Amino acid sequence: MHIVRTRTELRELVTRWHAGGDTIGVVPTMGSLHDGHLALVRALDGKATRRIVSVFVNPIQFNNAEDFSLYPRGLEADAALLEQTGRVDVLYAPGEGEMYPPGFSTRVLVQGLDKVLCGADRPGHFDGVATVVTKLLLQTGADIAAFGEKDYQQLGIIHRLVADLNLPVTILPVPTVRDADGLALSSRNRRLSPAARQQAAILPATLKTCLAAMKAGQTVAASLEQCRTTLRQAGFDVHYLELRHEDTLLPATQAGPGTRLFVAASLDGIRLIDNMPVT
Ligand code: PAF
Repeated sequence: MHIVRTRTELRELVTRWHAGGDTIGVVPTMGSLHDGHLALVRALDGKATRRIVSVFVNPIQFNNAEDFSLYPRGLEADAALLEQTGRVDVLYAPGEGEMYPPGFSTRVLVQGLDKVLCGADRPGHFDGVATVVTKLLLQTGADIAAFGEKDYQQLGIIHRLVADLNLPVTILPVPTVRDADGLALSSRNRRLSPAARQQAAILPATLKTCLAAMKAGQTVAASLEQCRTTLRQAGFDVHYLELRHEDTLLPATQAGPGTRLFVAASLDGIRLIDNMPVT
């Protein structure tokens, strides 16, 4: 596995690969890799003949400087983990100046989907995500790129931008990977204290309870309110817990096919997100 730091070196490689008939699969990440990221790498088995994993903690998607500085980082450990998979050709780890040279002033806005849920909670976040993902897809010459369903809203925004900008890439959604107690894997989980980490399992458990209440005939509004209360009582600061339509992200008043629960809640100041479909 090569570690590539510059666009020029990456361009040379991907041009050669494409000329040789390779299909390039890409997994964009912000590092601090875990099994969820490795599932994205594995999801490209049989779909790509070359794999690139990018690691770049993207400053423009953080609307809070402290959150950016505290975001976990560790390129050496990431490289070792990727090497062990035996599946990755390139770890692309550009510096900030490589991605955003002086004078950089463009933003990709995916209007509508970017204003609700995490977009309302973190203004400007999805502009930063859409901009860096567009750049990464172009820089890597991706034919296929894998993204996790844990960031369901992000996935919808990426589908939209790829369609709207006619980017020649297939987006591969990959199901959320969870720990044994149900907590969705996330680099942010590393920042939880042992006590908070134990407490965090209440988040997915509450989503399940909420889905079960709706299935049992309780109204959507009552089920959501009950579960928000459960989370608050367990010490979470609930940013949102909502039932939305999966495609439009508009609020849903009936739990049925194509609707999904979305939650963002903080524990000890660490923001966790999750989502589960109504089945
Ligand atoms: O999901 C992430 O890790 C990031 O938002 C992404 C897609 C790598 C863009 O920085």
